[in-house]
Amino acid sequence: MSDEGGVIEALRWAESEGLRVLVLGGGSNLVIGDAGWDGLVLCIGLRGFQVDRSAGRLRVQVGAGEPWDEVVGRTVQEGWAGLECLSGIPGLAGATPIQNVGAYGQEVAEVIVGVHVWDRMTRSRRVLTAAECGFGYRDSAFKREPERVVVLAVDLELRPGGAPTLRYAELARAFGETSTAGPSLTEVRERVLALRRSKSMVLDPSDPNRRSAGSFFTNPVVEAAAAQVLVEQALREGLVEHAAAVPRYPAEGGRVKLAAAWLIEAAGFHKGERRGAVGISSRHALALVHHGGGTTRELLELAAEIEARVQARFGIVLRREPVLVGTP
Ligand code: EPU
Repeated sequence: MSDEGGVIEALRWAESEGLRVLVLGGGSNLVIGDAGWDGLVLCIGLRGFQVDRSAGRLRVQVGAGEPWDEVVGRTVQEGWAGLECLSGIPGLAGATPIQNVGAYGQEVAEVIVGVHVWDRMTRSRRVLTAAECGFGYRDSAFKREPERVVVLAVDLELRPGGAPTLRYAELARAFGETSTAGPSLTEVRERVLALRRSKSMVLDPSDPNRRSAGSFFTNPVVEAAAAQVLVEQALREGLVEHAAAVPRYPAEGGRVKLAAAWLIEAAGFHKGERRGAVGISSRHALALVHHGGGTTRELLELAAEIEARVQARFGIVLRREPVLVGTP
């Protein structure tokens, strides 16, 4: 659907027919059960990129159906900071607030000032403020009430002439300390794209790891004491030589974000390991890959095997990150 009226009409029609609705963005974070989807699949094709420079600030209203990486590329080219680290993420702009996409030190929630939605409960068009979106790490109010709204457009506030964000150690390291001026937005975008490519996290038809939903699990956020217990176990069992080798990042409320990919490997799984038609990406332990001819059941069995082993080994529960529809 390429206009809002069409989207609303389709939703009304589905309601009158008693059909469930699956709103499809780019589908890059979606796992569909083997039985398929019994209902309406609504593809969002709402385009638009409107710039508003009033009141001394720069805002862009982006249609939900705009390919996300084109949006990022355009803002970087304009010299507007705020999205450069979110380069190379597949999918459409309207999906970004749902799980608050984040990568390499930025989250989309940092620049979202409004989300235009069709509220299926009140049957009205609304603009939600960032606070109303209830953003958290890979989380939002939309995720907590999954079928309530359909995103129509997103308002972003960017920083013209602003410096790139270099918060993520792996990204900052890539620039070393040689340049005093600091990298440009374009250089940061290029570097993020290269890093993502090296982890098979961009869509590349020639990459054997390409069929994945990106990270299959979120990084667990635990109490500081639980992170310490993990570090001690890792040292005791010789998984690491020193505490700093267990990846940890500060999270809200003094908690600690662990790296699910590290936990998976430390639990004994290997990159490239396969279970028939499905397996673990050979470039990143957090991506589960479909090599063709397999089923979602097989994929979810592998996911369950990983979850069970990580929990048995470290007492840490992994949570699935993609949207799972029609799955048992
Ligand atoms: N690591 C491993 N094994 C691996 C890969 C990574 O031990 O196979 C370790 C690394 O050494 C590093 C740590 O895990 O210490 C983190 O790895 P990485 O920097 O690749 O990031 P991540 O935490 O695995 C998250 C996001 C990605 C995002 C990157 C970069 C989640 C669930 N995933 O991954 O997002 O691109 O950070 O910011 O938060 C996605 O959501 O689909 C996604 C790709």
